[in-house]
Amino acid sequence: PVMMSSTHSRRMKYMFLGVLVLQTTSLVLIMRYSRTLTGDGSRYLTSSAVVSAEVIKIIICTLLVLMEKNFSVRAMNQLLTEEILSKPLETMKLAIPAGIYTLQNNLLYVALSNLDATTYQVTYQLKILTTALFSVSMLGKRLVSNQWLSLLLLLAGVTLVQWPTASVGDSEEKVLSASFQFVGLMAVLTACIFSGFAGVYFEKILKEAKQSLWVRNVQLGLFGFVFSTLGMMVYDGERVAQSGMFQGYNKITCTVVVLQALGGLVVALVMKYADNILKGFATSLSIIVSMLISYFLLGDFNPTGMFFSGAALVIAATFLYGYEHKPASGSAEKV
Ligand code: C5P
Repeated sequence: PVMMSSTHSRRMKYMFLGVLVLQTTSLVLIMRYSRTLTGDGSRYLTSSAVVSAEVIKIIICTLLVLMEKNFSVRAMNQLLTEEILSKPLETMKLAIPAGIYTLQNNLLYVALSNLDATTYQVTYQLKILTTALFSVSMLGKRLVSNQWLSLLLLLAGVTLVQWPTASVGDSEEKVLSASFQFVGLMAVLTACIFSGFAGVYFEKILKEAKQSLWVRNVQLGLFGFVFSTLGMMVYDGERVAQSGMFQGYNKITCTVVVLQALGGLVVALVMKYADNILKGFATSLSIIVSMLISYFLLGDFNPTGMFFSGAALVIAATFLYGYEHKPASGSAEKV
């Protein structure tokens, strides 16, 4: 394997992080919107949306493997057979993150069906901490002091950003009953733990053996597909039998599904070029981006000085964490 030049990989790192910020922002806003549309009660089944996203992911990743093999179908088949069927033990390892991601993906819909987008996003920031703790304990990653400091800055920044929204609030927020809030919060908190664990586990697999990222993702996607289909059968089996798995799908549903599938791919790229913790910072930036969108496009958000200081802290923390984070350091070297 050729070592990438550090400038090149640094550029890739920030590019994928930027893409992730945009993807997260649009996914959260559109997913929340899709769950609050008042319709004729024919809302789509979220368990089915998770399955659809897995299918799209598998298709895209297979195409990417095909591209890596210069569009030779035979070479692709050979590689996939070798990597997936002939190494059942290696393949089985991916069942763990796939199972957890399936639970997590379903939980996110529960969360966004019960919480407003901002509360959801801010609370989901706790995954940076769970991820850091899992990275330290499972990958043996060492964080230097400026990285710990940046985690603290990040939390402080997120709190400041959240402050005005919490007190001003939107009418929607006030209507939500406490029990919805509780269910939503529990869902996000559990998702934080799952996200941290699954992400670090996948990063470990990715960095341990030199295997194509896309082959890994096909493996992950296949398990994800099996688990999410099981989930759909268990929770919505009857409704699927009655009106089919695509009931209630509309253009917005399809957008959510595609964005989620693409998100999985960007997440994988970020894990490869950067790491899981840095990935979390991208989500923080996305909070700020969605607030700016609310301000400039929707006109329903009044940023205060508090917001601006918080935003500045979050951005500073992101660069502080990434700064001097040598591409060759960390997990890959440990094993
Ligand atoms: O919130 P978090 O960053 O943990 O979300 C990870 C998301 O990325 C999940 O939806 C998961 O299904 C997806 N993913 C993926 N492929 C990977 C890693 C994560 O599709 N290799």
